Amino acid sequence: MSLRGEPLPSPKQNRRLQKGWEGFFPYYAGYPEAFASSVINQIGLRKGSVVLDPWNGSGTTTYAAAQLGFDAIGLDLNPVMVTIARARLLASSEADSIGALADHVVRRSQSSSQEVDASDPLLAWFSRRSAATIRSIECGIREYLVSDLTISTEGVMLENLSGIAATFYVALFALCRQLARRLQSSNPTWLKFPSDDDQKISERPSLLIEAFKSNLQGMASALRNREDGKVSRRYAETQLRVADSTAPNLKRASVDLILTSPPYCTRIDYTSATRIEFAVLAPLADVEINELRRQMIGSIRVPVQDLSPKDEWGPTCNKLLRRIRRHPSKASAGYYYRTHLDYFDKMSRSIASLSKTVRRSGSIVFVVQDSFYKDIHNDLPAVMVDMFGANGLDLYRREDFRIPRSMAGINRYTKLYKRDPGATEAVLFFAKA
Ligand SMILES: C[S@@+](CC[C@H](N)C(=O)[O-])C[C@H]1O[C@@H](n2cnc3c(N)ncnc32)[C@H](O)[C@@H]1O
Repeated sequence: MSLRGEPLPSPKQNRRLQKGWEGFFPYYAGYPEAFASSVINQIGLRKGSVVLDPWNGSGTTTYAAAQLGFDAIGLDLNPVMVTIARARLLASSEADSIGALADHVVRRSQSSSQEVDASDPLLAWFSRRSAATIRSIECGIREYLVSDLTISTEGVMLENLSGIAATFYVALFALCRQLARRLQSSNPTWLKFPSDDDQKISERPSLLIEAFKSNLQGMASALRNREDGKVSRRYAETQLRVADSTAPNLKRASVDLILTSPPYCTRIDYTSATRIEFAVLAPLADVEINELRRQMIGSIRVPVQDLSPKDEWGPTCNKLLRRIRRHPSKASAGYYYRTHLDYFDKMSRSIASLSKTVRRSGSIVFVVQDSFYKDIHNDLPAVMVDMFGANGLDLYRREDFRIPRSMAGINRYTKLYKRDPGATEAVLFFAKA
């Protein structure tokens, strides 16, 4: 393994960098593409190497790896994120076909029913008329661009969704976000619901269709300006799957680099964060939202089960759990203790499975943030070092970046406990001992 040890760009996501193609799916939880490319370059992978991100989110790792000419695999439990990651891998040579396809999709949508089913999840935000228009556009995308490789009698295989179909879905996600802007709260993961029917979003159908087409035009021109070089073949070959990191279903010793930022231990609800996109994707995302929330790592909903701390989670984790359990504040010994147990149980099982997928000469690079539970410091980077150690992987490099205001800093307890609203984002490099 060669490591040049050059300085790394910051892993902190920067809205200003999310321009052009990326500007259509701004994501609060990822790292910038320049960071992912720099790590991959510094690792010095051989030709034909495989890069995996088991918590692929908006697909920064898979996009950067494919750009650099490597085989890439991205997993995420959230079908919305798999769709976004797929759209990101659309080759720039497809830009020219977007306009013509948009006309067909819109024409098809206008010929379908303008009624909406009473159980349609879009009705949580939109009037009947606007929900019917959005659903008819979605129906147009599904009927015109999604083949029976993706939807069959066996169910939905989202991993087969084409880059073009995913791009059209992202244009519709973006439209719903633009329309729902007034319902966005200061917490980027939470979109409010209108208080009653009168407050629901209602726009003329023609305006919605024009705005959808204008998003696609913007995406086409951003795509034209992107330089893919000779690697666009890699985009289509990149594997993206809806999968759980605790059971990734990958071959032993088949991966050369895992580069990822796992869900943090700050109770971010990754499922609710994409609720409006879920509503759009409902016919393709055959999942029950609350079930998915329970499966997610770091979720605020935890399954009812009997868990207890394990020695292999390491001393830092076990001490943290003891302190949370003894904390005098309300629900610390109950609900909050259980959410932390659930997080560390899923994380430790994921690390055990992922460690097996890496080749002897491979590397694992984790970007993790520390945080606070009330006044108790949660040193997540140290916990990760212990958990990898238990699976035969040693830390060989660490870079820390100071974040002045973290997602967890939005929490009102920050002021109550006079603690730092910032965090340390650590980039941890592991290799087999
Ligand atoms: C911090 S984000 C990853 C961000 C990504 N690096 C990027 O640049 O967009 C964590 C992701 O983990 C996913 N996730 C949470 N629990 C999971 C699980 N058990 N298996 C797979 N993915 C999961 C969430 O849906 C979320 O997209």
